[in-house]
Order: sequence, then C-alpha cells, then structure tokens
Amino acid sequence: MPQLTFAATGESYDVPEGTRFLDFCQENNLPHDFGCTVGSCGTCACVVTEGAESLPSIGDEESETVEMATDEEGARLGCQLVITGDITVRAAEV
Ligand code: FES
Repeated sequence: MPQLTFAATGESYDVPEGTRFLDFCQENNLPHDFGCTVGSCGTCACVVTEGAESLPSIGDEESETVEMATDEEGARLGCQLVITGDITVRAAEV
C-alpha cells in the first residue's frame, strides 16, 4: 500500500492505491485547502516533494489550472492527484 507523507508534519499514512489525495484528506480529517474538488479552481494546489515519478503524468486540464494557481515547479492539484506510490506532499505557494 502506498505511503503518503505530509512534509509539514512528517506524519505518514498508508493509502489504498488509486485514492485521490484530497479524498484521503477529507476522509481522515487531514487539513488541506480545497474549493471546487473538480480541478478548476486551483485552491488545492500542492507540491510532491518526493516520489513524483510514481504518479500518473499531469494532464492538460490539470496543468492549465496549476499554472493559474501557482508558479511552483512540479505542482499538482490535490483533488486530481491519484496516489499510486509513496509520496511526500506539501501545500503549494499560491
Ligand atoms: S479543489 Fe479546485 S482545483 Fe482542486
């Protein structure tokens, strides 16, 4: 089972493969800002600081929203991020 680590706290969780990052946060009362939950507002932007290579590639729609939300290199949308391997995540600077 993939492991999700929050860079800010160092806390780690086992996450069923294929779970969306934001869904896991909401189901486990883990704070992460969000808005639309469908990939259009950019509020959930985050940066995968470790393990990004294990994730599905970013799509065009996600990429457009990320570019609107943050200038951070390698940022993703928490509501679109499907966990497929061990990752460490922090909120993006928006
Ligand atoms: S919550 Fe709006 S883009 Fe993710």
